[in-house]
Amino acid sequence: MAKPRAQKHTVILVPFPYQGHITPMLQLGALLHSQGFSVIVAHPDFNSPDPLNHPQFDFLPLDAGLSGMDTSFENVLAIISAFNRNCRAALVDFLVPMMKDEAKYGKISCIIYDVITSFGNTVADHFKIPSLVLSTCNAVYMQVLHTILQLQAQNQIPLPESRLLDQVPQLHALRYKDMGIPVTNKINNEVVEFLAMVTDLGSSVGVIWNSSDILDGIALSQLKKHYKLPFFPIGPFHKMAATSSTTSYIKEDRSCIAWLEKQSYNSVLYISLGSLAEIKAKELEETAWGLAGSGLPFLWVIRPGSVTGTEWTELLPKGFPEAVAGRGCIVKWAPQKEVLAHSSVGGFLSHCGWNSTLESISEGVPMICRPYFADQLANMRYITHVWNVGLELEEVENRGVIESIVTRVMVGDEGKDIRQRMLALKKCLDDSTQKGGSSYQCLNDLTDFICSFP
Ligand code: UDX
Repeated sequence: MAKPRAQKHTVILVPFPYQGHITPMLQLGALLHSQGFSVIVAHPDFNSPDPLNHPQFDFLPLDAGLSGMDTSFENVLAIISAFNRNCRAALVDFLVPMMKDEAKYGKISCIIYDVITSFGNTVADHFKIPSLVLSTCNAVYMQVLHTILQLQAQNQIPLPESRLLDQVPQLHALRYKDMGIPVTNKINNEVVEFLAMVTDLGSSVGVIWNSSDILDGIALSQLKKHYKLPFFPIGPFHKMAATSSTTSYIKEDRSCIAWLEKQSYNSVLYISLGSLAEIKAKELEETAWGLAGSGLPFLWVIRPGSVTGTEWTELLPKGFPEAVAGRGCIVKWAPQKEVLAHSSVGGFLSHCGWNSTLESISEGVPMICRPYFADQLANMRYITHVWNVGLELEEVENRGVIESIVTRVMVGDEGKDIRQRMLALKKCLDDSTQKGGSSYQCLNDLTDFICSFP
């Protein structure tokens, strides 16, 4: 509920322009807007969301100077450097007249930037206004990054392969294998610099987390001691923000919702590997036959280009459409939150990106975990060994293993237990977003904090 404000406060949001980061930043914008703030989104001109989907925000397009650059994800570190190098001046130029005309633009209270777009912090320093940092990953993963830097500084990397299954002493429940960056290989300087950048919060005066004390409490309290800054874990944002606007820059195919309507309660397995992961043709083939063998209905997102060397579904095996006739739906991109909230969906085969994980828990949907990189491995470990709300898919190129895990989770007794634990976790998370809950309270604290800036 919007609180009446004596003065119009404006916040500037600086997202990192990839789907898994844009989504939580826009959701945070919706949350702050609902609290009475004016919201301006300063967006590098890459993967830009459609402003028409967000009429409540103003958008500032920042020239990131990417023309002529390789913008594939393999080159992401160079792209990040370009954002931080080129967008700073563009944002300063936009803000100079705005800072001078408070009557027109409101009082610019602060800049909120993604941990990766650290130029937001530099610009805030330039104008001597406060900045807050948004971590779109959880605190567990931020601890992982700190630990990798520590190991690197102690010359412990590369670790011997024999240590991969050892528990990391500093990290609750995680093994070296779960760190998301292979610590048995040498880590190059570019990556070390990147890790140093995202763990250094500069002059930020607080940290906003798309996370919750319920899921991330231990890591949040340990990190808070390290940073000595106010923390605002106010997630899951999509449950806290009352908005139906899409945050996808990829077009959603809504026909799958009509298809779900025709399926029975909890019967459908939803499969999606997020916005970045790529799979090999062999995994596509084995997944297809695993699904066929399970005999269960499925909704499968195959992102164009996500199967190495293909356009879309051309490598699905011959005979597969006939084998699953009438019980499969394949789309390029789905309205995922709505899909997971649908009563027909009973399981989620996921890459365990943090947004997908939060969305699945929020709807009480058991998970089958197939992580690829970064935080996805630590998220999987929490899903399978801390919260016990999902199982790990151990062999991704084995149709028998895929068929078996799908059956265990969707219709087996083990699946029933997992579902019960997932529903219990969902209830705790729901409660945290309601009056008296931790995320609800932290949002009020964040609102008061921003309004207290001189
Ligand atoms: C990336 C990283 O891979 C992830 O590990 C990190 O936590 C955030 O940045 P991504 O791989 O895209 O993100 O995964 P995820 O965090 O799950 O975000 C994907 C978002 O896209 C989700 O909000 C999901 O709802 C949405 N989505 C995905 C759709 O709307 N439709 C789809 O078909 C698939």
